Amino acid sequence: MPHPLEELRDAALREISDAGDEQSLDTARVRYLGRNGSISAWGEQMKTLGKDEKPIVGKLLNEVRDAVAAAIEERAQNSIDIFRRMGFALADGPDIEDEWHCFDALNTPPEHPARNEQDTFYLPDGRLLRTHTSTVQIRAMQAAPPPMRVIAPGAAYRRDEVDATHSAQFHQIEGLYVDETVSVADLKGTIELFMRELFGPDTEVQFRPHYFPFTEPSLEVYVKSKALKRGEQCIEVAGCGMVHPAVFEAVNKARGDDAYDPEKWTGFAFGLGMDRLAMILFDIPDIRLFAQNDSRFLRQFA
Ligand code: PHE
Repeated sequence: MPHPLEELRDAALREISDAGDEQSLDTARVRYLGRNGSISAWGEQMKTLGKDEKPIVGKLLNEVRDAVAAAIEERAQNSIDIFRRMGFALADGPDIEDEWHCFDALNTPPEHPARNEQDTFYLPDGRLLRTHTSTVQIRAMQAAPPPMRVIAPGAAYRRDEVDATHSAQFHQIEGLYVDETVSVADLKGTIELFMRELFGPDTEVQFRPHYFPFTEPSLEVYVKSKALKRGEQCIEVAGCGMVHPAVFEAVNKARGDDAYDPEKWTGFAFGLGMDRLAMILFDIPDIRLFAQNDSRFLRQFA
């Protein structure tokens, strides 16, 4: 007779493969992996098991969790896919960066608090772990002239006190769109389209004024959706804005040309907090689950 956990795994995989749309996939996610999901319930029960049973059930539980997580992640490439359908190409850059790409080129002066040793991991040679994926904006523009439409999923690092909602390593999707007539309306339309694809058509997207050195104006993005567990709450999910002319100037200087003439080109950029989005979507209670070196999770961002 199969163990109840094996039955659970098979039922979960069946439900995932049968899920015809995002909504039913989300339901499956929550049912099996959510805070009150059946897999988490088995985790709780572990405490009550005897010495001989514990390792066997523990191993089975890990297998079930891995199998379900893998099946879901296979289908959860969708954030990236949504942008690709909008014509964004993939770009990337290194996690270990120099100060120029992370700060100077992004109009962030030496005295800015983000550059503080309290906030950023510096290597002995002066390089650092990038504090955001905005470094890839600079690398993409150095590498090619406009028009430019790229997204860059990847890891970023900050010296945060680690707890359930803060991690020293987190994940972002950076976006950059530069063309001759890009406006705030394009930025808002793109973000709204993305959020509605991801969270459902009744998703409410709010933009609130903010400050980033490398965009002007700058905005923070909040979403509210009945489809979400915390449906009534507004959740901050991204920073964005219109590319600051000083960023174009820094890129031009490095390129040694005038390709990104701020009189001719405008652009928008955004940085989506992926862990936050995933935590909301999958009802994951603890951000630390993302940094436990599950290669399938990490591969999505590689
Ligand atoms: N890099 C910013 C952050 O990590 C987000 C952002 C990206 C803001 C692009 C504006 C434009 O908070």
